[in-house]
Amino acid sequence: MALLNWDESFSVKVNLIDRQHQKLFGIVNSYHDAVQGGKLAPALFKLLDGLAEYATVHFATEERYFAQFNYKDTEAHKHEHKILTAKIVDLKSKVKVGINVEDDEVSKFLQIWLEAHIKGTDHKYIDCFSKNGLR
Ligand SMILES: [Fe+2]
Repeated sequence: MALLNWDESFSVKVNLIDRQHQKLFGIVNSYHDAVQGGKLAPALFKLLDGLAEYATVHFATEERYFAQFNYKDTEAHKHEHKILTAKIVDLKSKVKVGINVEDDEVSKFLQIWLEAHIKGTDHKYIDCFSKNGLR
């Protein structure tokens, strides 16, 4: 079974963002599978790099709406995005120099962060986004 399984309880009621979250889940699941399958550092690095790149696209999408709708929790929310972005950079540099990544620490961390961020922090903008007409 995949590490992260998207279901309606993760929905933020905006199609584009739900699809982006599903894609992030997919990348983390691929990372988890690669670790389980004993893939080596270069393959893991490539997956983390892909995650970093897509997370940047996704965060920019949310943050563009925050600015557009003058969302009240913008600063706190952007701060969480910044912390994850920095964490991925840190993980990438560790994987790059071959620091032990065989255990599931990385995928576990990403799983917990994504689940908590979507259900805790992202869900707070549902009313704002919906009032502003996003579907
Ligand atoms: Fe977010």
